Amino acid sequence: MKIKPLVIANWKLGLDHTQAIILASQVANSQDEFEKFVDLILCPSVISLDAVRQALGSKSFVGLGVQNIYSKPQGSFTGETSILSVKQLGGKFVIIGHSERRKYFAETNEDVAKKTALTLTEGLTPIVCVGETYEERQQQQAEVVVTEQLVQAFEHVTLKASQQIIVAYEPIWAIGTGQAIEPKQAHLMGLVIHQQMLDVFPKEVLQNIRVIYGGSVDGSNVLDFVDGSVLSGVLVGGASQQFESLRALVQAYAKQ
Ligand code: PGA
Repeated sequence: MKIKPLVIANWKLGLDHTQAIILASQVANSQDEFEKFVDLILCPSVISLDAVRQALGSKSFVGLGVQNIYSKPQGSFTGETSILSVKQLGGKFVIIGHSERRKYFAETNEDVAKKTALTLTEGLTPIVCVGETYEERQQQQAEVVVTEQLVQAFEHVTLKASQQIIVAYEPIWAIGTGQAIEPKQAHLMGLVIHQQMLDVFPKEVLQNIRVIYGGSVDGSNVLDFVDGSVLSGVLVGGASQQFESLRALVQAYAKQ
């Protein structure tokens, strides 16, 4: 059976609480259109997770995720987000190691590894972000950097048949710039990532790993990045934060 493309909406800090509820309601009202063509995951700000879930009501065609968690489930860690709470509020996915977290919050590959292991232990699906800087690509280091990020992220992970992992390839220089990478390059990196997964995990669980692309994706270019086998979805920031541009992604698939 052909799998539907994955569209993961990373709302970042782009929407306030009220805007998040409105957008979730608009999505809920478009169930037929969305559900038919894509598997949608909404990742609002964690503070709006519960309200977004309520706005979606019984519309279980939408998966819910968060943009970060802390690497421990509980303890004296003022201001952090517990995966246990995320779980209780219906979150099923966790974005881990987004380049904005690595850049602005000094998140390391080691943090990514801990969060990935914890997410799987708690029965949620990690969306592990990897990607190189522009300089690293210019210096032909992109594959080395991404491979190293993957090796470290999955160092402590044994993937069970019931567990899933999503790897999002996001070249840092393509995020939020309107300058997506050449689709061919994204595809090539997708192959590198799959090869790396083959080195890390037993063959039986490889089907539980999806590789997707992120970085300046919108309705006009989304089809270039998803071939259904190497890259099977997209992680979208800017274009996912307004109903019409989110809908344009779905419509692109509908017209296919
Ligand atoms: P963008 O963001 O779609 O705005 O480039 C992607 C991301 O940060 O995941």
